[in-house]
Amino acid sequence: MDGAAEILADMGIEKFDVIQIAQTGGSGPKVVIISANGYMYALKFGKTRIPISDQLKNRGILVDLIGESRLPKVMQFKRYPDGSEAMLITAPSRNTLHDVVTLDNMGIGEKEILRTVDDIVSRFIVMWKQTILPYKDNVCTRPLIFRNERIFNFLDQLVINSLPFSELKGRNIIVNKKNLGNISDLIQVANQDNSPKYMVTCHADPNADNILISPTLNSKSTCYWWLIDYEWVGQISWILSASHFLGWWISNASRLKSRLETNITPESLEFSYEVYRSELMNNIITRCARKIARFAKQIKEPDGWDLKLRRMVALLILGDVRFAGARSREAYTHYLIAEGFQLLSEVKEKTT
Ligand SMILES: Nc1ncnc2c1ncn2[C@@H]1O[C@H](COP(=O)(O)OP(=O)(O)OP(=O)(O)O)[C@@H](O)[C@H]1O
Ligand SMILES: [Mg+2]
Repeated sequence: MDGAAEILADMGIEKFDVIQIAQTGGSGPKVVIISANGYMYALKFGKTRIPISDQLKNRGILVDLIGESRLPKVMQFKRYPDGSEAMLITAPSRNTLHDVVTLDNMGIGEKEILRTVDDIVSRFIVMWKQTILPYKDNVCTRPLIFRNERIFNFLDQLVINSLPFSELKGRNIIVNKKNLGNISDLIQVANQDNSPKYMVTCHADPNADNILISPTLNSKSTCYWWLIDYEWVGQISWILSASHFLGWWISNASRLKSRLETNITPESLEFSYEVYRSELMNNIITRCARKIARFAKQIKEPDGWDLKLRRMVALLILGDVRFAGARSREAYTHYLIAEGFQLLSEVKEKTT
């Protein structure tokens, strides 16, 4: 709990039950789900990349785009003399889209989940259309130029079978016996200009842990859903926002069937593994991809946008190597590298 009780007391909440300590993601905040006075709340506090006060300003941007009903209500905000911040927001559900898809659907039918995902992506497309403008990297909340540098600097330091990745870049990468080519050449593919023609304003990180889900009584309808985590709300490449609907499942919800094997030879870095993705997950990816393609056509995003999307998904997956520990997925570190480079090799194949 690490200080949650003190913050709650400071907010005037002395009596509460802890429902869950949530699994948090990249920047290391703490989120505790509690019940008090018959309601559920989420207390978010501790270390965050973007101050909680800025996340709340970002929420304000989203209100104008998607309306209050899709966002949990903010009950309290506190700022302490040491600069730390905390917020208490309602918890309309304790289940995320990730939970309902991976934990036996939590009693929600697959059709209902698919309809809900369709609804979410359609709502994003409305937001994208409402806010579309010519792309400018220097006004973006998540500029593309610095992202690659952060991702590959981190990879360089990573030690694989006692050798740093930076020393392996002259070798070929082999994934499940397929030679994908030279690692440095593939990194060059990742670093090609990935700017789209358009940028949009929206929730820039619509991954399945940032969407809360609750079933309705009518199983023929869509589930209720809400967006949380407003760190990156703002103007961004529409392709970056779209990439989260696809890449997140590959990166965070797929399961290794057995231990992945890594082998280094003087010429190569080799990974062998078998991965499991449920039919539901594959269906979600296919349907999201179809909707995204339809949007790209409608806005006349120039040819090659699909390769930019694939490159963006590769970067998302390689970027998630940094968070494998925080997400208790250390065992997936080499899998993420393999999947990321696999996608980069597909982009390379289609461009040469
Ligand atoms: N209002 C809420 N209701 C229910 N659960 C919540 C709520 N807010 C957060 N959670 C749970 O806590 C998890 C982490 O919260 P959140 O997404 O805000 O932060 P994060 O992704 O860990 O951190 P960062 O600020 O670095 O992006 C969510 O994935 C979800 O499971
Ligand atoms: Mg999150």
